[in-house]
Amino acid sequence: MSKQMVTVIDHATGKQVDLEVLNPTDGPKTIDVRKLYKELGYFTFDPGFMSTASCWSKITYLDGEKGILRYRGYPIEQLAEHSSYMEVCYLLLHGELPQADELHTFEEGIKDRSMLHEAVKSFYNGFRRDAHPMATMVGVVGALSAFYHDHLNIHDPEQRIVSAMRLIAKMPTIAAWSYRYAKGWPFVYPRKDLSYAENFLHMMFASPMEPYDVDPLFAKALDVIMILHADHEQNASTSTVRLTGSSEANPYAAVAAGIAALWGPAHGGANEAVIRMLNDILESGKPLQHFVDRAKDKNDRFRLMGFGHRVYKSFDPRAVIIRQICHQLLNNLGPQGRQYQKLFETAMELERVALEDDYFKSRNLYPNVDFYSGIIFLAMGIPLNMFTVLFALSRTVGWISQWNEMMGDPQSRIGRPRQLYIGETERDYTPMEAR
Ligand code: SDX
Repeated sequence: MSKQMVTVIDHATGKQVDLEVLNPTDGPKTIDVRKLYKELGYFTFDPGFMSTASCWSKITYLDGEKGILRYRGYPIEQLAEHSSYMEVCYLLLHGELPQADELHTFEEGIKDRSMLHEAVKSFYNGFRRDAHPMATMVGVVGALSAFYHDHLNIHDPEQRIVSAMRLIAKMPTIAAWSYRYAKGWPFVYPRKDLSYAENFLHMMFASPMEPYDVDPLFAKALDVIMILHADHEQNASTSTVRLTGSSEANPYAAVAAGIAALWGPAHGGANEAVIRMLNDILESGKPLQHFVDRAKDKNDRFRLMGFGHRVYKSFDPRAVIIRQICHQLLNNLGPQGRQYQKLFETAMELERVALEDDYFKSRNLYPNVDFYSGIIFLAMGIPLNMFTVLFALSRTVGWISQWNEMMGDPQSRIGRPRQLYIGETERDYTPMEAR
């Protein structure tokens, strides 16, 4: 089949270049601009990467107009209903759904790696008790490379998988210990008789004074939430992991960079910001329309947190599922869930009011993955400052799968964008006495 080409013509010089159109298996085609600068002397200009594909990938596919999200071709709705987070981790990392024995071996491999070197405990003592757990996560995950020099040959596929398993396995322990340290509680070790989600909740809330049984409702809800957060194409934190890894930095440093990028309220920090926004709304006693109007006011920095998305211009499919989980969980909790019902009802009413407003409709601004997730975390007893930690914990498999895919690509090279320079042209140094 002949190649499809597009031609760029420089009308100032009459020079032109034919660029190949690269065909996807799904989604938009891309124009291969790699030779544009060499042949025509121009860079492309695309701050925020609104129209730029930074890489090829086989892992996750999004269609923002249709609200489609697929991991390795499987629709997120089917994975959320039928799969488990461990099975999704295997799928993202290895590309296929596992056989039963493969899944068992994978899960045992994760459990066997869920402990931390005892020396890691002393890292926590270097943080203030009131340090945000995301700061602790960045520090401790980045420092993990100090413990694993034996498996840091990033060009060895098997050693890349060992590093990936280690990161997936240790994140719940690191995250839970961040919380325990802030509370001044003793660290709780992972247990092999518990599932991934059960282990995290156990390490978060178990007390040495009495037995702690994980609520199966919470464990199941958390497992699905982690599936929904596991990967999401080339978002800001995943792109950060890829760019960091492209310099051949070790995977622990690359994931630590991803955690830092995720922390921002425009990205993974939005789940925490949504609850703060909802509480502010409830405490203000003002009508929802007042806040919708503020979100529309260009002179007001206030935005509806948990609303809008760079890719989804229709419902974020994850938000639809999370809203259902939230509804079911609060109902199943009965009186215990009632205290969060007001938050949930306010969120649903805010969604209704905003989606009836032309400002939001005309800009295709819908609830995203962060809009309802925090209410579920609160119902589980997880504190506000741990919400983004949970996002980072869940997304680690996506980050490290994308890193592994990039490092396995023989054409992979260090990422090094250029710029549109608009600064001073050349000028001579002016001695102090002449300034
Ligand atoms: C995540 O990329 C991913 O895949 C991320 C993520 C993942 O799984 O990795 O999905 C996770 O980060 C979800 C997003 C969480 N962030 C928030 O909920 C913060 C609130 N949302 C906005 O800050 C914003 O919508 C972004 C950051 C999510 C998207 O920003 P864009 O794509 O740069 O959109 P934009 O800022 O260009 O907005 C377009 C217009 C603007 O108005 P105009 O200039 O056209 O007049 O929409 C407006 C914006 O002012 N707008 C909002 C709004 N979001 C966009 N107005 C009010 N409230 C909002 N939330």
